[in-house]
Amino acid sequence: MHLVILTGAGISAESGLGTFRDKAGLWTRFSLEEVATPQGFAANPDLVHDFYNQRRSDLLQAVPHEGHRALRRLEEALADRMIIVTQNVDDLHERAGSQRVLHMHGQLRRVWCTHCDSRFDWDDDASVRSRCPQCGQIGSLRPDVVWFGEVPYHMEEIADHLDRATHFISIGTSGQVYPAAGFVAEVKARGAHTTELNLEKSSSLFDVCEEGRASEIVPRWVDAMLAQI
Ligand code: OAD
Repeated sequence: MHLVILTGAGISAESGLGTFRDKAGLWTRFSLEEVATPQGFAANPDLVHDFYNQRRSDLLQAVPHEGHRALRRLEEALADRMIIVTQNVDDLHERAGSQRVLHMHGQLRRVWCTHCDSRFDWDDDASVRSRCPQCGQIGSLRPDVVWFGEVPYHMEEIADHLDRATHFISIGTSGQVYPAAGFVAEVKARGAHTTELNLEKSSSLFDVCEEGRASEIVPRWVDAMLAQI
């Protein structure tokens, strides 16, 4: 048995972090091109830093919920027979105790110096005036998040997990953004069992779909899995 669990913004919604495409989602209030592309950052770095500073400060106030904690319980039972691949840049899985987490879209509490190519934990606001703690350069820090048009992180490792997946579980993602949106078709073609846990069904490719809030349906699904293994 090898479980690949793909998570998206919906698992963190009840922790107070916004999703992207729901009615009040971030992409209804902000322009994706302006704040989530390399071109947007080049054109207006202050705007982009402000956007991620606000999100980082929201994240520092947020706490994981029963859904995040349930995945940690599952990891305690399955150990290296499962992996969480998250599109989320928050660290709520880790704060719930999960250790096997791949952040394919980077992490909000980290910055990347594009001058010396170092990455750092970073909980303060960042700006064009911030100095790189490694090389001392001013103005070279950017959020360590993957923007549209950039290559997601850990793709080789993720491909290896998808190859071995017997079960694929998608939680709280609308399935609009590739490559993550393509994972379900890929594993299904190789015979994996596919489950969606989401507020609303996003695709007909899943064998099973449980609709509801992540804080309720994830613990229920985990309890059912734990009873089977
Ligand atoms: P979306 O905002 O596209 O989708 C969130 C999904 O979560 C929707 O299907 C909602 O129905 C569902 N949802 C909302 N509240 C929920 C709850 N309480 N419980 C369960 N499900 C809930 O977010 P993502 O699919 O994660 O990338 O978006 C993928 C990527 O697009 C993000 O990683 C980000 C964004 O642009 C980058 O910025 C590169």
